Amino acid sequence: MAGGKKPSGVSPEAKKVRFKKSERTDATDDATAGKSSSFGIYSIIATVIIAIVSWFVYQGYLETRVNSPLAESKVALATSHAFPERYWGSFRPGVYFGIKTREPESLLAGLMWFIPKLAAGGNLNLRHQCDQGDNLEQYGWREHDGRNFGVQVIIDKFIQLETSFVTRLGGNHGGDWTARIQVHPRMADLKGEEVTLFFYLTVDDNGKGLLQPIRAIDNMDASTMSTSESIKYLGLSAVHGHTDKLGDFRVSFQHESTVVHTAFLSTTIDNPQQVKEVLQSGLRMMEDKKSKQRHISLAGSMFAKDDTLKQPNLVIHQVTGKLPFQLEVVYESQSFVNREDMLNGQVYETLLQKHRKNFHAKFEEKFHLVEKGYSEEDQVFAQSAMSNLIGGIGYFHGSSKVQSVYNKEPVPYWNAPLYTAVPSRSFFPRGFLWDEGFHNLIISQWDREISLDIVAHWFDLMNVEGWIPREQILGSEARARVPDEFVVQRNNQGNPPTLLLVLDAMFEKRSLRDITNLELEQLNRMWPRLTAWYNWFNTSLHGPVPGSYYWRGRDMASERELNPKSLSSGLDDYPRASHPTQDERHLDLRCWIALFAKVMTSVANLIGRDGRKYQEAFNFLSDNRLLNEQHWSTKAKRYSDYGLHTSNVTLKRPKSNPGQPKPDKVRVALEEPSVQFVDDTFGYVSLFPLMIQILEPDSPQLGQVLQDLRDSSLLWTKYGLRSLAKTSPLYNKRNTEHDPPYWRGPIWINMNYLVARALHHYSKIDGPHQSRAQVLYYELRENLIGNLIRQYQKTGYIWEQYNDATGAGQGCRPFTGWSTLVLLLMSETYA
Ligand SMILES: *[C@@H]1O[C@H](CO)[C@@H](O)[C@H](O)[C@H]1NC(C)=O
Ligand SMILES: *[C@@H]1O[C@H](CO)[C@@H](O)[C@H](O)[C@H]1NC(C)=O
Repeated sequence: MAGGKKPSGVSPEAKKVRFKKSERTDATDDATAGKSSSFGIYSIIATVIIAIVSWFVYQGYLETRVNSPLAESKVALATSHAFPERYWGSFRPGVYFGIKTREPESLLAGLMWFIPKLAAGGNLNLRHQCDQGDNLEQYGWREHDGRNFGVQVIIDKFIQLETSFVTRLGGNHGGDWTARIQVHPRMADLKGEEVTLFFYLTVDDNGKGLLQPIRAIDNMDASTMSTSESIKYLGLSAVHGHTDKLGDFRVSFQHESTVVHTAFLSTTIDNPQQVKEVLQSGLRMMEDKKSKQRHISLAGSMFAKDDTLKQPNLVIHQVTGKLPFQLEVVYESQSFVNREDMLNGQVYETLLQKHRKNFHAKFEEKFHLVEKGYSEEDQVFAQSAMSNLIGGIGYFHGSSKVQSVYNKEPVPYWNAPLYTAVPSRSFFPRGFLWDEGFHNLIISQWDREISLDIVAHWFDLMNVEGWIPREQILGSEARARVPDEFVVQRNNQGNPPTLLLVLDAMFEKRSLRDITNLELEQLNRMWPRLTAWYNWFNTSLHGPVPGSYYWRGRDMASERELNPKSLSSGLDDYPRASHPTQDERHLDLRCWIALFAKVMTSVANLIGRDGRKYQEAFNFLSDNRLLNEQHWSTKAKRYSDYGLHTSNVTLKRPKSNPGQPKPDKVRVALEEPSVQFVDDTFGYVSLFPLMIQILEPDSPQLGQVLQDLRDSSLLWTKYGLRSLAKTSPLYNKRNTEHDPPYWRGPIWINMNYLVARALHHYSKIDGPHQSRAQVLYYELRENLIGNLIRQYQKTGYIWEQYNDATGAGQGCRPFTGWSTLVLLLMSETYA
């Protein structure tokens, strides 16, 4: 544990009591000091010293709470032993193609490439990290089962790469894997064009490891070769390596005859972030003496003069080939002694085809898209969406930076692993707490074990206060992509507890018979963490009246924001009360906590714990009468937040003297705010009682919500529900001059999924609103699926959000995070 400097020996409770006592003694003794004997004076001095020391100790204790782990057993099992099948994988979502283990200090494998013909003006446009700026036509996993294999297609200008891998168990260090990179021209007349691939091996986190390049030429009789042949074999045949975790291993490279040049680089680096830079510095122009052909080529061994040991921890193998060609990289654990054949060539192809076949069968068994009559094309879309979500699962290791009000500076969280999916491989290739619940609604349908393992890892990040940091930037690979000002996580800021949606989907309708022992064991270990988390929400985010809650972290002093953001709600700039106060009531948060209480009740029942207080909490929070009292505006006839508010705010530029730079616009309230419902605003937040399904089926409010849902002057569009009604004062408004609208208009798929799910729910229950719910469900579902598929066909990507006027994808891409919920809409999975 790196950060948690817990005071040893004394329990937190004991310390608290001692502090309070000495504080009291301090005060009374002070008042009577004048009448004391000299013995009394000493005792007063001693007491004061004790009080001061205690105060410091207590402050120190408070400072350490934020980065002290909850003292309960961990839920996640150690990877290497528990899940050998998921030991190796594509756990580097932020690169186009990379392989590593689910352990710290892993061997890292990765791919880079460039197209010599397009390498203009000294810029190779080297591809490595998923980067929107590369403007690739398309990339993403087309098939990936999260365990055995994956197939990815990458379209880059005039070439198409197919990167695939297969793992194979054996030995006692996690088995073998093989990766294959095939490069094809996209048009027939480009046959014969050259493309260069680099495949590298290095060790993560500064871990110790040895990588010894074995040159192809070493194995040949150089004297019998022509010069052009010897040029051809400058590259490597293999790398012999060793790390503590993997023991001895061998990685061999195999390619075809259309390869015109191979080369290598071996050196030592301090940090895997340097790979690209070191590679670029190791490139030379080389000429084949006989053919006079020139190639951009790696330079071989490169070591600093004083590096006498010459023990490389980075080896890069280069292959330059004429289209089409392929490279196979075969990793073999030396502990795997009885392997029958090498996993390459036809053996690889056969095993890959077997996994692909199983994938397709399982996909149909889980999602029934053939049965539902979807076209071949639509199925490919759905499979690609899910595969890129699952292929985007990463394994990270490191510590967040966190801060509480007691810390002057941010402090490191403890070092911890995180196995998690990511929202976007290019833009958000790391873990986000509230996204992860939506991701695992899908993943848990595909593979319950993977989902439960992911959820377990997240719960293990809980600190002693019951808090989980919401954005996880772990390890140098993740940290390198986030600007410093966004790194620090604050412990008053939660995030919607969407992981409860996952537990609900996984366990709500299951009887004990359908639950494995391992699942039960993990649920049992999860229980103390669930109660701590619930308690954190219930105590840290409560409002002044019972049943009211509000998100912390809105900036009360903000001058430039039109409406101070509530980032921790996940809905960033969705408009709330114009003037943040401690009397606010946030409707979405209340509904999340109601959901939390509901799931706690069912989990408690399942594992035989006492869930009565959660049942009571749920009854209380879902009581429609109380909900309406606190959140239903009878004037506007809609559910809403409540707080100090005026609709009449605007951004204005303050006057400046001529010749001086223009100052930023500031916020001006043209009207005194008053305490009221924030009912000028209608949008996703207003729909939460529907989404969380706590409205009584015969509730008149439900009828009103459904009526408003279909109104195109409000939220309804042909492409799904927009986040904010066109009639709301902040619809599509910038929050500052520099901050474009985010949750103020665009269509987001996670919220649309929850609405569709709720409509489906109410369409199955007798009541006055049943048939309306059914019609809306049908239409909304069609609109969403239709638009996402159209945009995918048009642009090659699934997007972060969709434009409410045109349906066009916008924000970042590929966004196979919660937008992938389109798959569950297609399969009508609303567990
Ligand atoms: C939530 O907090 C309220 C008051 O702050 C308390 O009465 C209630 O028991 C708490 N609920 C649970 C389930 O702990
Ligand atoms: C906002 O306030 C100004 C000044 O009081 C007033 O002139 C204007 O009509 C108000 N606008 C709205 C939309 O209420």
